[in-house]
Amino acid sequence: MIPLAVPNLSGNEARYLQDCLATNFVSSVGPYVDRFEKEFAAFVGSPHAVATANGTTAIHMALILAGVQPGDEVLVSDFTFAATANPICYQGARPVLVDSERDTWNMDPAAVQEELEARAQAGAPMPKALLVAHILGCPAKLALLKALCDRFGIFLIEDAAEALGAVYTDGPLAGRQVGTIGHMGCFSFNGNKIITSGGGGMLVTRDWTLARRGKHLTTQAKLPGYAYFHDEIGYNYRLTNLAAALGVAQLEQLPAFLERKRALARRYDQALAGLPGLTLPPRPEGMDSTHWLYSILLPGAWGPVLSALEGEGIQTRPLWTALHRMPPYAACPLLGTGEVAQDLCTRGLSLPCSTTLTDAEQDRVIASLQRILAP
Ligand SMILES: Cc1ncc(COP(=O)(O)O)c(C=O)c1O
Repeated sequence: MIPLAVPNLSGNEARYLQDCLATNFVSSVGPYVDRFEKEFAAFVGSPHAVATANGTTAIHMALILAGVQPGDEVLVSDFTFAATANPICYQGARPVLVDSERDTWNMDPAAVQEELEARAQAGAPMPKALLVAHILGCPAKLALLKALCDRFGIFLIEDAAEALGAVYTDGPLAGRQVGTIGHMGCFSFNGNKIITSGGGGMLVTRDWTLARRGKHLTTQAKLPGYAYFHDEIGYNYRLTNLAAALGVAQLEQLPAFLERKRALARRYDQALAGLPGLTLPPRPEGMDSTHWLYSILLPGAWGPVLSALEGEGIQTRPLWTALHRMPPYAACPLLGTGEVAQDLCTRGLSLPCSTTLTDAEQDRVIASLQRILAP
């Protein structure tokens, strides 16, 4: 079976894990946690990073730090993995879903603008925060979203779980990486992500106060010293030293992983470009996607193609069901029609794109797809 996306543990992972065992630092304190935070912050170009147990807890913490409370509204991408939106509900806040746009498959800034201007005109309350996911490695149109958030005084949180290393190459954000532009950015190191720590996450911010409070709240809000004194309700959202050791080893290889992901995407693009009715992944102007998951839109529904490829020993996966189509979110307000998100979920299919995928394996995937989709 050619897998969809598997970890590549060919660096210093075993050595650093062994170091944790040898020094007895296996839990939530240890030098690798500090090192992972520092090196991650340097890589993405953010002054502060706080390691968390996973990406979901990073998003939850960002919402807490933004002051999102029961009854508040949070604008959120309709087309994303459910973990983007679930923490809004943990806070008792109300998600307001925003449909995708065609250029990036991400949150549609035009729908956001229309809503915020209408609210401003009517003197209606503004959402507390906007939580935008950069899906599948492709940046969202953040210059526009940031301008709107700045104009209307809304907290901007980026869910960059799937887009570590994606960068803006033109316009006002040129040279900036995703996750570093909003008030806070969240990353995931789940097993299928571009780097993995087994499970883990990171919250980054330019704001020292937010970072300091984030570290405090994610580590049980315990004040330093011998007295077990907690000045707030804290959370055990810490990353273990073992996980951080894996993360450090993976981070060393990230530039090579990014290069490989982009090379695989170029090869797929070239080979699949002519197939009738097939839409290739977005390559928007002024942005450099990582193509974390190389995903195409088929001429029709994904089911038969997924089954046919599975029959040939090739693992693929559909994209997500749009949030507005699932029970926990069906009653949420939706900006836009939801048709773009629905189309992505009907026709979207991710192809094998592990960094360990060989050219020969990729050629087999391409040949199978060409055969299956031949008219
Ligand atoms: C867009 C997105 N947000 C959030 C998450 C949650 O991350 P984690 O699994 O580390 O909690 C993931 C992936 O798992 C994701 O793809």
